[in-house]
Amino acid sequence: MKSKFPKDFLWGGAVAANQCEGAYNEDGKGLSVQDVLPRGIRGQRTDVPTEDNLKLKAIDFYHRYKEDIALFAEMGFKVFRTSIAWSRIFPNGDDEEPNEKGLAFYDDLFDECLKHGIQPLVTLSHYEMPLALGKKYNGWMDRRTISFFERFAKTVFERYQNKVKYWLTFNEINAILKAPFMCGAIMTDKEKLTESQLYTAMHHQLVASASVTKLCHEIIPDAMIGCMILGVTVYPLTPSPDDVIKTMLRDRETYQFAHIHARGEYPSYLLRYFEKNNIGVDITDEDKEILKNTVDFISFSYYSSICESANESAKMTGGNLSKGFINPYLKSTDWGWQIDPKGLRYTLTKLYDLYSLPLFIVENGLGAEDVLTTGENGEKTVNDDYRIAYLNDHLVEVEKAIDDGIPVMGYTSWGCIDIVSASTAEMKKRYGYIYVDRDNDGKGNLERYKKKSFYWYKNVIETNGESLKR
Ligand code: BG6
Repeated sequence: MKSKFPKDFLWGGAVAANQCEGAYNEDGKGLSVQDVLPRGIRGQRTDVPTEDNLKLKAIDFYHRYKEDIALFAEMGFKVFRTSIAWSRIFPNGDDEEPNEKGLAFYDDLFDECLKHGIQPLVTLSHYEMPLALGKKYNGWMDRRTISFFERFAKTVFERYQNKVKYWLTFNEINAILKAPFMCGAIMTDKEKLTESQLYTAMHHQLVASASVTKLCHEIIPDAMIGCMILGVTVYPLTPSPDDVIKTMLRDRETYQFAHIHARGEYPSYLLRYFEKNNIGVDITDEDKEILKNTVDFISFSYYSSICESANESAKMTGGNLSKGFINPYLKSTDWGWQIDPKGLRYTLTKLYDLYSLPLFIVENGLGAEDVLTTGENGEKTVNDDYRIAYLNDHLVEVEKAIDDGIPVMGYTSWGCIDIVSASTAEMKKRYGYIYVDRDNDGKGNLERYKKKSFYWYKNVIETNGESLKR
């Protein structure tokens, strides 16, 4: 079958600074929230960085990025998504002047991408806020954090204006309500936070997102900037109207974020929710003006779908930020995330039907345990047919959405090289086309090996999707 992917489709891969760079205290970098989260979302945070925190060294991308980008280029990447670690540029978040060494690192990194014909797609903030902002201001709880973020964004827009043409504001911005420390440097225990406080932090982030969208348009007029949503796809567990209503309400928890970014105002149902529940969020007239700066595209992560039910005793999935009820029609990964390629087409369609903006799938992939073996040519490799099957089936659904007329700008599969996982902070859960020799105990020589999926993805890109198994 002839490929339906457009000629300029942006094929690539994605990572986040805190999960790959390591070098947590080099060249003037300040601590980030990740440096004190050795066990990921669920674990306790520590007072200071501890040796068991794999992210401190991660896969040492900070020193090995040239080798890694060359491998991405070999696969034919058109785009590479990464984030700028805010605390490399402003070590405390509120510093007056940026750290030149941090800026220089990203100069070199983006130059290296461009040298290989790879466009950088840059997330401004990917779960890695400067820890000092948490300690001093309680992160996004404080309105002043908006201006620190604006300063950071302005600095990097001006510095990289000729190198970076695709930007994202906050990674999975809807996650702040679920994981306020990791996503918002909010030091107060989640259990002690009131809804007013949580929604205030959310509001500050949304205003900051719109404000830097405006800045980006002013400083880099030929760039595109998008929001990034954790694409929680929800189905009713049964046709019971109660389950359907529950699903509708659950959906709003995700879509309200896309709505504000795409339509430039709060949806009426969220304002009503604040009113009915006495949730005090200070939404000023000036904020309302800023929110009108809407995004150029919507990007999202998609790994699985979940079910909603009014029957609380139904069985729950093992997912993390997006827990739901188990769909009996789907299989699950070893980490309990249900595999649902069709859900990706469903999500693309729904987002486009609602907001009519171009879409970018900036995360998708299979976290699995890989076994390193010796291939026919004597080189070490991983026979990751399970990963190939997962990615193939999802891409086939993306193609169907495109064939339905939905503008999909590109696809960056998650963790294109093995990195430390976010929710459980381990190396064992691997997503990459490239295996990295490091284990959960931090042992390994960090050598890189091409997995079977490396050659598979290379072929997919080379043929612009024609080689997919439909
Ligand atoms: C997304 C995050 O939620 O999921 C990534 O943006 C993360 O940072 C990815 O790595 C996969 O989750 P995990 O826990 O398997 O790494």
